[in-house]
Amino acid sequence: MMDDSHTIWIEKYRPQKLADIVGQNEIIERLESYVKSGNLPHLLFTGSAGVGKTTAAVALAREFFGESWHMNFRELNASDERGIDVVRNQIKQFARTSPLEGATFKILFLDEADALTPDAQAALRRTMESYAQTCRFILSCNYSSKIIDPIQSRCAIYRFRALGRDAVKEEIHRIATQESLTIQEDAIDAIIYIAQGDMRKAINALQGAAIISREIDEKMVYAITATARPDEIDELLDLSLKGDFEGAEAVLQKLLQERGIAPNELITQCYRVLVRRPLDQGLRVALIDQLGVTDFRLSEGANSEIQMEALIAGFVMLSRKYSS
Ligand SMILES: Nc1ncnc2c1ncn2[C@@H]1O[C@H](COP(=O)(O)OP(=O)(O)O)[C@@H](O)[C@H]1O
Ligand SMILES: [Mg+2]
Repeated sequence: MMDDSHTIWIEKYRPQKLADIVGQNEIIERLESYVKSGNLPHLLFTGSAGVGKTTAAVALAREFFGESWHMNFRELNASDERGIDVVRNQIKQFARTSPLEGATFKILFLDEADALTPDAQAALRRTMESYAQTCRFILSCNYSSKIIDPIQSRCAIYRFRALGRDAVKEEIHRIATQESLTIQEDAIDAIIYIAQGDMRKAINALQGAAIISREIDEKMVYAITATARPDEIDELLDLSLKGDFEGAEAVLQKLLQERGIAPNELITQCYRVLVRRPLDQGLRVALIDQLGVTDFRLSEGANSEIQMEALIAGFVMLSRKYSS
C-alpha cells in the first residue's frame, strides 16, 4: 500500500462526484440535470473560499466526460496572470481546439475570474462568444459584482453558500471515520467555530489536530489553529467592559504571548462576538469603531503590542463613558 501519511486531506477527500458534495443541494441538483440533458450553458460560480466551487466544477467535468475528462477539461487560475495575455494565449488556445473522444464541447474552468482586469474580461467575453460551440466556460469568483455585466448575462449564476453546521459536521465525521480518529463532540463544535463555513479550513484543522493525537479534543483544535476559544474572547470582553484593565490585559497577554494568537485573528474574533452580544447600541457602535481603528493601524504596520493594549484601554474608557 502507498504511504499516504503526507497526503493533504483536502485533496484526498475532495468529493469526486457531484452527489458527494455537501450543503449545496439545490445547486448540485441543477448541475446534475445538465449532465442528464447532455448540455451545458456557461456558468458563473460565486461564493467565499472553501465552499465547493472548484470541487463542483471538476466533478461536473468528470460526470460529463467520464474517462476522457482530463482531455476535455482545463483549470486556469486568473490571479496568476491577470492581464489580457492570459485570455489571448492560454484561454483562446484551449477554447478553439476541437473536443476529444467524441465529446461535443470542452470545459474551461477559470478560477478567481474576478482577478481579471476589465480589459481582459472584455476579451474573455468575446472568446466566450466566438467559441461557444466548442467550449463552455465555468467562471469562479468571490463576488459576482466584480464580473462585467455582459459576462454575467451570458452565464447561469450559482451562488454557493457558506457551509452550515450540519454540512461541516457530516464531512468531518466522514473523514474522521475513514482515518479511524476519535473525535469528541466539543472538538467538532470547535472545528465548526473556527471554519466559519469554510470546509477547507475545517478539514485542515482536523488534519492538524490528528497529527497531535488520534483522539481529538477541543483544546487541540484551538491550539493548532491558533484561535482563541469563544469563552476566552468572552472573558477578555467581559473584563474590559467591567472596566478591569489589569484583568483584561492579563487575558490579552496570555492569548498573544502564550498561545501565539495573531493580533488580527483576535480582532476578528472580538468583532464576531461584539456584533451579536446584547449591548447598549451606542456602546456597540463605539466598540466596533475602535476595532476598526486598530485593524487599520495594524494593516499600516503599527506596533501590534501597543495597538492591542490601546484597544483594551479604549474598550475600558468606552464602557465607563456609556455606563455613566
Ligand atoms: N460542499 C463541500 N462538500 C464537501 N467537501 C467540500 C465542500 N466544499 C469544500 N470541500 C472541501 O474543501 C476543499 C476545498 O474546496 P474547493 O471546492 O476547492 O473550494 P472553493 O473552490 O469554493 O474555494 C475540497 O477539496 C473539499 O475537500
Ligand atoms: Mg476554488
